[in-house]
Amino acid sequence: MTITSGRRLVIIGSGAAGLSAVLEAVRLGSSVTVLTKDSLGDGNSKLAQGGLSAVTAQGVTAGDSVDAHVTDSLNAGAGHCGRTAVQQMCAAAGELVSTLEDYSVAFDKNPDGSYQLGLEAAHSAHRILHVDGDATGAGLIDALRQAVRLAQEAGKLKIIEHALATELEYVDEQLRGVRYLKDQQELVLEADAVLLATGGLGTLYKASTNPAGATADGIGLAARAGAVIADAEFIQFHPTLVDPAKYPQAGMISEAVRGEGAILITEEGERFMTAVHERAELAPRDVVARAIHSQNLAGHRVFLDARAVEAERGTGFLKRRFPSITARLTKAGLDLATEPVEVVAAQHYWMGGIYTDSFGRTSLTGLYAAGECANTTVHGANRLASNSLLEAMVFARKSVHSMISDDLSVTCDISQLQVSELPPARNDAPLDLSQLQALASEHLGVHRTGDGLEVMNRALTSSAPVAQDQRELIELTNLWVTARLIAQGALQRVSSLGAHHRLDAVHESNTSTIRYGFRLAKTQQADNRTQNKEINA
Ligand code: SIN
Repeated sequence: MTITSGRRLVIIGSGAAGLSAVLEAVRLGSSVTVLTKDSLGDGNSKLAQGGLSAVTAQGVTAGDSVDAHVTDSLNAGAGHCGRTAVQQMCAAAGELVSTLEDYSVAFDKNPDGSYQLGLEAAHSAHRILHVDGDATGAGLIDALRQAVRLAQEAGKLKIIEHALATELEYVDEQLRGVRYLKDQQELVLEADAVLLATGGLGTLYKASTNPAGATADGIGLAARAGAVIADAEFIQFHPTLVDPAKYPQAGMISEAVRGEGAILITEEGERFMTAVHERAELAPRDVVARAIHSQNLAGHRVFLDARAVEAERGTGFLKRRFPSITARLTKAGLDLATEPVEVVAAQHYWMGGIYTDSFGRTSLTGLYAAGECANTTVHGANRLASNSLLEAMVFARKSVHSMISDDLSVTCDISQLQVSELPPARNDAPLDLSQLQALASEHLGVHRTGDGLEVMNRALTSSAPVAQDQRELIELTNLWVTARLIAQGALQRVSSLGAHHRLDAVHESNTSTIRYGFRLAKTQQADNRTQNKEINA
């Protein structure tokens, strides 16, 4: 690899993708600044429960293989994944695990020193590494953050916290830096290459497993600069969020609980997943989420029932294996060991994103993306459980190598996409966050229809985001642009595929390689930039 010294790298976001990218940049001796809108490490990654999917040497000895991990990922993704990217990711998992251990990530181990491996939906083998049972994200982010802080103390990088990126600065199509908002002031950070690692968009929905900061920031930034966003229609819904209307603080219950044998039942005690899929509760996540949502639409309540797991494995098993979930449920007055817990499907993850190649390059010069805001094509139409942390870190670290060694005029190849321009918006009716959430939850949910999507589209294209303060307005604008991209993608894909389910589908496809991409028309890029400057004025 040619190392081009002196390049100024900026990494926006400090979850799993951002922190692992920073550490790789430091390891390679680059000049790097990390910009993050809250405190270092805040975000969705630290909430990850289930874990990190990885076939290690131990897995291979037990009969698992990288090829099996690839096959499971491709199958869950409904034939819409980029095979090469999936192969690269799965093959890199073993080495990533060693690197993380070098950064003191303490994966759970058995007394003999072997990894404790969990099972999650649509995996053909136990291959989920975890930390502190069900606190994988917290353990991972704590360790990476500490390593980054140590590097900061050694003067190897710069950290700017509580700084929201507002715009990518391009002059004559050359990236010059990033504008950001800190303490009500707009500032500019010069950069030769920028990595967007800003996470997802959960705040678009009324019910999401994501924290409030998941406001599609990188998507908004990239879209306003003219980058291609692809596969926007594929939103993943997690099957088991404890009903937030009744227990707002109880949170999500990891799929790993079903991996240990918990089942889904209705209020009448009927187990319904056996009739839906041969793998029952361990069917791909989109299948389980749809089945739960359909039960709710039919007037049934759905419960996760782990009582038999506790009975079989002995009193205290669930508390030992899932200490964080147990603690949260206890606070809410619930006990998975002795009672079924009511759950709903809720927005969880976005498979779409800023289109990248497997080197992290986007369609814009100097701009790279990794983690949930990026679309490496690894997740296809439905992400395999616990592949997100893996994908985020593998491709974030690869992106850093590209940022250092690329000829910065290169961009990713978009010739395989069907790219259209996003139709312009009229920007007249005011739209606040709760109105946007209501629209998205109704029309961009588990089930979609062409009519509903048209309603959504009209409402979005005739609206302008309004909020209380600058930060909220920028975040809402990012969500609004992203919602427009999702609605367009969902309208364009008239058949159902993976997590995109059209009730009025022309046909159900098991596989599709057609990938839709969108970019904002030049006028809208300019309009949005003007709007942003007004926001910041
Ligand atoms: C879970 O623990 O159920 C979530 C894991 C994931 O989103 O991959």
